[in-house]
Amino acid sequence: MIRTPLTELLRIRHPVVQAAMGYVSGPRLAAATSNAGGLGLIASATMSLDELRDAIKETAGRTDAPFGVNLRADAPDAAERIGLIIAGRVPVASFAQAPKPELIAALKDAGVTTIASVGARRHAEKVAGWGIDAVIATGGEGGGHVGAVPTSLLIPQVAAAVDIPVIAAGGFFDGRGLVAALAYGAAGIAMGTRFLLTSDSPVAEEVKRVYLAAGLDGTVVTRRVDGVPHRVLRTTMVDHLEGPEAGAGWLSAPRRAEALIRSARNAAAFRGVSGLSWPEMIRQGQAMHRDTELTWGQVLMAANTPVLLRAAMVDGRADLGLMSSGQVAGLIDDLPSCQELIEAIMAEAERCLDRLAAVRKA
Ligand SMILES: Cc1cc2nc3c(=O)[nH]c(=O)nc-3n(C[C@H](O)[C@H](O)[C@H](O)COP(=O)(O)O)c2cc1C
Repeated sequence: MIRTPLTELLRIRHPVVQAAMGYVSGPRLAAATSNAGGLGLIASATMSLDELRDAIKETAGRTDAPFGVNLRADAPDAAERIGLIIAGRVPVASFAQAPKPELIAALKDAGVTTIASVGARRHAEKVAGWGIDAVIATGGEGGGHVGAVPTSLLIPQVAAAVDIPVIAAGGFFDGRGLVAALAYGAAGIAMGTRFLLTSDSPVAEEVKRVYLAAGLDGTVVTRRVDGVPHRVLRTTMVDHLEGPEAGAGWLSAPRRAEALIRSARNAAAFRGVSGLSWPEMIRQGQAMHRDTELTWGQVLMAANTPVLLRAAMVDGRADLGLMSSGQVAGLIDDLPSCQELIEAIMAEAERCLDRLAAVRKA
């Protein structure tokens, strides 16, 4: 057994967290991870309030072990989502962005453990000062929205800066990585892409096959999708977005008009899920237009992002959809169950520690 401040804090058997993944980490994957002794996280940013309520209930029905809900601290209905977490007696709330001190205090008063994702030391210091219980520090090789600092530099820096458990993320997939993370001062690891590539993940087999086929150079970080750096599998569509004819500009005028109408329609459909009001959505669009180099066509493209992610993750359309992915996809070539995965990681970590102890004696 490997015990760390993280296993103590979360009351879990193994220091392994399944990172939140929109449209991927619902009740099935989260419960399978928690049943295997790790911590499963439900990704709620792509769920409506009703869907989240159902997902909490279903996950609690599938596991007696601790699990968590990941949410956006800036979601307009964050208060209602937190209400569902507390009412559902969910033991852990994890935040994609820094939650305000009042939010952390409210959750802690209700007995919920709080975790925030960070990509830089100063963010970790800020939330630690506000009373957060642990941070997930994600390096630049990770999937989805990422910072620029690689995991091997971010983790030792963050672990030295804060006294709370640091969960290392970005590029982890095996027991050697877990031991390396512990050596850097972390208390455990979180993995997204590795859990997407399990038999418990709900993603379609065709889409999993595209991930498995990717090499180490098979991902790219693009701002062209939603204005912030986003690591995705390199596909023809992403190459178009990144290419010289980027944005809607590479389409002919009638096709461009059509694309804009489709984007607006998709944005309207997502509004129903996200709970954003029209004025709030327009405000976010204006801020994105102002703060990034994106054209209005690209801002609408950003509004499409959830729809494109959904096309791949839910509808199985690898050809049409957008696939967030860590670089680690290039090292993964199997689809174990969560139980097999976590057992293999823990067994390899034990062997690795024995090997290192032998090096010391030698
Ligand atoms: C398919 C996919 C979807 C993701 N969706 C989300 C999300 O909805 N919210 C979030 O905070 N992070 C999301 N992430 C990022 C993960 O939580 C995590 O930071 C990342 O996967 C860690 O890097 P790894 O993939 O190398 O393990 C996503 C990652 C992937 C691969």
